[in-house]
Amino acid sequence: MRQLANRPFIVTTSRRPTDAQWADAAHWAERLDAPLVARRGGIATTCEFHGVVGAVVVGADRVTYHEPANDLQYFYHPGMARVRMQSIRRGRGDPMVTAMRLQPGDGVLDCTLGRASDAIVAAHVVGDAGRVVGLEVSPLIAQLTIHGLATYNDDSPRVTAAMRRIEAHQTDYRLYLSRADGGAFDVVYFDPIFHAAVEGSEQMVALRELGDSSGLDSEAVTEARRVARRCVVIKQRYGTPLWEQLGVDTVIGNPSTRVQYGVIEADREA
Ligand SMILES: C[S@@+](CC[C@H](N)C(=O)[O-])C[C@H]1O[C@@H](n2cnc3c(N)ncnc32)[C@H](O)[C@@H]1O
Repeated sequence: MRQLANRPFIVTTSRRPTDAQWADAAHWAERLDAPLVARRGGIATTCEFHGVVGAVVVGADRVTYHEPANDLQYFYHPGMARVRMQSIRRGRGDPMVTAMRLQPGDGVLDCTLGRASDAIVAAHVVGDAGRVVGLEVSPLIAQLTIHGLATYNDDSPRVTAAMRRIEAHQTDYRLYLSRADGGAFDVVYFDPIFHAAVEGSEQMVALRELGDSSGLDSEAVTEARRVARRCVVIKQRYGTPLWEQLGVDTVIGNPSTRVQYGVIEADREA
C-alpha cells in the first residue's frame, strides 16, 4: 500500500455511491496506488476497520482526503489566486510577479506546485503565448491538483482559463531539473514548505502536513540556475537564514507581508 509520509490510506466513496462514483473511485485508487474499499458507516469507522490513518473519499462533486483522528481534511482549491489576479488587474501588482519580472509569453517552471495558487497567477500573467509547468512530488497533492486544474470551475472564467493552461506533473523537481535543457524556462520558482510556518487557512495547514517538507538545498538551486534563462525565485518566510546560505541577489517583500521572495539571477546574466 502507498505510504504517504507514513500515512497509509484507502480510497472509498461517500455513502450510497452511484455506479459512476464507484468507477471514479476505482480510477483514484489506481492513480494513488491505494486499496479501494466500500464504506462501512462513517469515515473514522471505515479507516479503523482497515487499520489506516486516512481515506480519500470520492463524493458526487468533490474528492477529499480525510484523517479523522488528526481532524485533517484536504481537497483541491485554488486558494488566493483569484484575489491576487484581481490585484494585478487593478494595478496593485503582486510581489511574486514583481520578483519574477514576469511578462506575457514567459515560460515558468514551478518546482513546488502544491495547490497551484502561484502557478495560476503566473499562468494568468504569461497568457496564451506563455507556458507554466508545475511539479509536485507528493502523490496525493499532485493527483488532487492535476485533477483540480483540469476540472475545477472557478466563479471567474479568467481563473479557470489560467488553471487549464498549466501543465502539471507528479515528479520530484530534482529529477526534472537534472533532465531539463539549459535555459528551458525564463523563471524557475520554489516555494518550499516553511519550517517555521506562518499561519494560514485550514487547507494551507493540511498542505504543510501532507506535502514533502525536505527543504531546498544549494544543489537544486545550482541546477535551477542552469535551467532558468532569467532568474530563480524562492519564496520564504520573513527573516529566513536561507538568503545568506544561498547568496540571493535581491529580496522582495516587507515584514508586513510575512513572506519574502529571494531572486537569484540565472547563470546567463551572471
Ligand atoms: C508550500 S507548498 C507550495 C504551495 C504552492 N506554491 C501554491 O501556490 O499552492 C510546497 C509544495 O512543494 C512540494 N514539494 C516539496 N519538495 C518537492 C520536490 N522535491 N519536488 C516537487 N515538489 C516538492 C510539497 O509536497 C508541497 O506540496
